[in-house]
Amino acid sequence: MHLENPFQDPLRFERRMPECAIVIFGASGDLTKRKLIPALYRLAYDRRLAAGFAVIGVSRTPLGDDGFREKMREAVRDFSEDTKFDEDVWNAFARGLFYVAGDAGDPALFVRLAQKLAEIERERQTGGNVLFYLSLQPSQYAAAALGLGGAGLGKGNGWRRLVVEKPFGRDLASARELSEQIHQVFDESAVYRIDHYLGKETVQNILAMRFGNGIFEPLWNRRYVNHVQITAAESIGVEGRGAYYQEAGALADMIQNHLLQVMATIAMEPTASFRAASVRDERSKLLRSIRPMAPDEIRVNSVPGQYGPARVGGEDLPGFHEEPGVDAQSRTDTYAAATFFVENWRWAGVPFYMRTGKRLPKRVTEIAIQFNPAPLTLFHGGAEGAPNLLILRIQPEEGISLKFLSKRPGAGVELRPVSMDFNYGSSFGERSPSAYETLLLDAIVGDATLYTRQDMVEASWAVVEPIHNAWRETAFDFPNYAAGTWGPAASDQMLARRGHAWRTP
Ligand code: BG6
Repeated sequence: MHLENPFQDPLRFERRMPECAIVIFGASGDLTKRKLIPALYRLAYDRRLAAGFAVIGVSRTPLGDDGFREKMREAVRDFSEDTKFDEDVWNAFARGLFYVAGDAGDPALFVRLAQKLAEIERERQTGGNVLFYLSLQPSQYAAAALGLGGAGLGKGNGWRRLVVEKPFGRDLASARELSEQIHQVFDESAVYRIDHYLGKETVQNILAMRFGNGIFEPLWNRRYVNHVQITAAESIGVEGRGAYYQEAGALADMIQNHLLQVMATIAMEPTASFRAASVRDERSKLLRSIRPMAPDEIRVNSVPGQYGPARVGGEDLPGFHEEPGVDAQSRTDTYAAATFFVENWRWAGVPFYMRTGKRLPKRVTEIAIQFNPAPLTLFHGGAEGAPNLLILRIQPEEGISLKFLSKRPGAGVELRPVSMDFNYGSSFGERSPSAYETLLLDAIVGDATLYTRQDMVEASWAVVEPIHNAWRETAFDFPNYAAGTWGPAASDQMLARRGHAWRTP
């Protein structure tokens, strides 16, 4: 089955998966236990999995099928936040879990994997359909794809697809090279580069809001929009991922992928249809319209940061250099802010401000669209300068708010900002699927709408790479913000130069 029209498919979330096996490389890693297995368990709980569905965990840890099942049982208990643990559902699910130990760089692993897949195909009637999921160290992606090809696993009786986790490449050249290596085994149409932000309900809702209503789109352009602020703040530090994080940094970890995809969703042109190809074409077109910064622009339109230790609310928070796995001299950015411009008729001259960071005061991801002020100031003596804002809250407290001015009751005319709010939780009163549930289901039914394509990944690197290179060559005075604060002062100055200020979410 190949469904290409998810937004017009009323049964999108009622769909059941076709028979298939999912092979997870990196099965002893964090993502498998925190996100992938809990998402698959939830799909089993909701009875969306086909009877013969199977998962084969692959990693170096020596384990048997039973050992893997035991570990995954704990993972489901620990990380299935909003799903009850049900023994019957678990037992049926666990019968479909298998394990193969080995190193992705070792061709013998793929021979053993091929044998296991053949057995599973016979016993569980998976029809030869296989989804390979690479949740490995990025340096092992190419070896794993080529290993699959070497063992003849890139093709089979059924369909074969490859999901690749982020980061996809370290820069434009390595992203291109990785795609070329993967294409030796899998066609682009079988490659699913995952960006879990695109699977979030609230990010998908941006398209529903923009293109399902008539009232927003007429305002959605340079004539009415003054500027856009995209914020993804996290209060946590690097949480045991110091070694990975100090290689990546905030710009590559969040902006190159998640936030540029969010920006593309906010700013793209309407699609001709909701077929995967149309939606991805429009996202790609928008990403290619973002102006890469020239060196002198990078100095004023981008700001890196790194947090230092602080005492917040009686708690001692470590600085980045004190985090486990982080080198005491590390110059990695734990905060990144940038001003982007889109060179097209709709957005010319409208700043898109973006910021993300670790150890900020709270966890919040939102997009704030600030509209131009009224042409004349008729009212005085109140909050008449307060801007009209449309705020799309991605997480937590998912919803949309419109901020505008209203007359305060009483004699005289005094204006006060008020808010019109839509809240997901109270409006729908039902659970939203996690991003990984949505995306796994999509990959299995062959719907790539919410996955990134080679041209999109390359367009994002083309925007981010010049900034990355310039930052690496500059000796910044780090740390430049205290843990628990909203980032470096230079980030405020970046907006102040255009008469703007970050909103406090
Ligand atoms: C991941 C990043 O892709 O996204 C992490 O590697 C970050 O550093 C995470 O914490 C944020 O995701 P979410 O869904 O919690 O906003």
